Amino acid sequence: MAHTADGLLNIGVIGLGRGFALMAPTFRADPRCRLVAAADPRPEARTRFEAEFSGRAYDDAEALCADPTVNLVYIASPHQHHAAQAIAAARAGKHVLVEKPMALEPSACRAMIAAAREAGVHLIVGPSHGFDASIAKAAELIATGDYGAVRMAQALNYTDFLYRPRRPEELDTAQGGGVVFSQGAHQIDVIRRLVGSPVTRVRAQVGAWDPARPADGAYTAFLSFANGAAASLTYSGYGRYDTDELMGWIGETGRPKNPAAYGAARRRLSSGAEGTLKAERAYGGAGADLPPAEHHEHFGPIIVSCERADLRPLADGVLVYGDEKPQLHKLAAPTVPRKEVIDQAWGAVIEGRAPLHTGEWGLANLEVCLAILRSSAEGREIDLPA
Ligand SMILES: NC(=O)c1ccc[n+]([C@@H]2O[C@H](COP(=O)([O-])OP(=O)(O)OC[C@H]3O[C@@H](n4cnc5c(N)ncnc54)[C@H](O)[C@@H]3O)[C@@H](O)[C@H]2O)c1
Repeated sequence: MAHTADGLLNIGVIGLGRGFALMAPTFRADPRCRLVAAADPRPEARTRFEAEFSGRAYDDAEALCADPTVNLVYIASPHQHHAAQAIAAARAGKHVLVEKPMALEPSACRAMIAAAREAGVHLIVGPSHGFDASIAKAAELIATGDYGAVRMAQALNYTDFLYRPRRPEELDTAQGGGVVFSQGAHQIDVIRRLVGSPVTRVRAQVGAWDPARPADGAYTAFLSFANGAAASLTYSGYGRYDTDELMGWIGETGRPKNPAAYGAARRRLSSGAEGTLKAERAYGGAGADLPPAEHHEHFGPIIVSCERADLRPLADGVLVYGDEKPQLHKLAAPTVPRKEVIDQAWGAVIEGRAPLHTGEWGLANLEVCLAILRSSAEGREIDLPA
């Protein structure tokens, strides 16, 4: 059974790539975490992990799951491995934090949920931008009821996602590639948390406009919710317009962005072999380490309209546009980046509190992603069972 005697999250990581490089500043800074082990097929990542964290590094995930010092397994391997690795970790008695998207098929998500339930461990899906401090704050403000019911939400995000270095399967939607699986998982998570009601119907159009990067690179979707609210979600990863312009040039990870770097992702991609460029951004690579984040993370401009106010989550707070004037509900600067992820894991593993981002929550996000793809392919609305 998971080892919690010292009251810490003793974390074993599966997959030391870019996703882990983005979480590493959190693990380094949060005193509730200790990285005790990792598994990755790349020797350079294992060597760096052993040197930095003095933990054990395995070349395969099964060995990590058997490590008795681990009480929480963080799965940050490619999507297609999430289900089998989460099930193996749960069966070994470990709590599980699994990256988004939780898996690629609802049946795989259900098997993960069942394995965690049978083993009596928590299954948390994240990090994703639904954890962001400003989203939590906006959800808290909406829940006061002061602004009336949520009626409508807009989410917009234009990035260079498709031109960051990718593995071959990341450029094939049939294998889980493209923006719907990877970025829809964030945007849907954010909007579901704010609207606070199940998605009942989806109409969407998905775009794949660059034959050299054939996965889906953009979508626009209209979501209906059980509480009568509606939301419009748009994402483009084609690397031209950048919605961070509308976020004060604070990037998604809470670091300043330089507008003069227009087109940098495309230029970088044409500067070398894609596999080499990818390895540079993964943990252990020369370009993996990030400067400190002065702001909270965000996922682009979002406006939630309640009956008596429009709320706009920003990187540093939530702007509430009521009848008289806009009011900023400011957030304290982050001391630990992505602290909210550890709050949920700590609450579950150490304090026994049910997390928000459960397996069921991650499954519901995936079902909306799949409905977006299906709606576009079939040219019709897709109803989701309540
Ligand atoms: N939440 C976020 O902000 C965020 C950001 C980036 C990636 N991610 C997620 O993290 C996951 C990994 O994506 P990435 O961009 O880090 O990819 P990546 O290619 O940069 O890294 C994947 C890592 O997993 C390793 N790996 C491959 N097969 C493995 C296996 N069978 N067992 C253990 N390790 C294995 C690779 O060697 C590599 O180090 C994806 O599910 C992605 O959606 C999340």
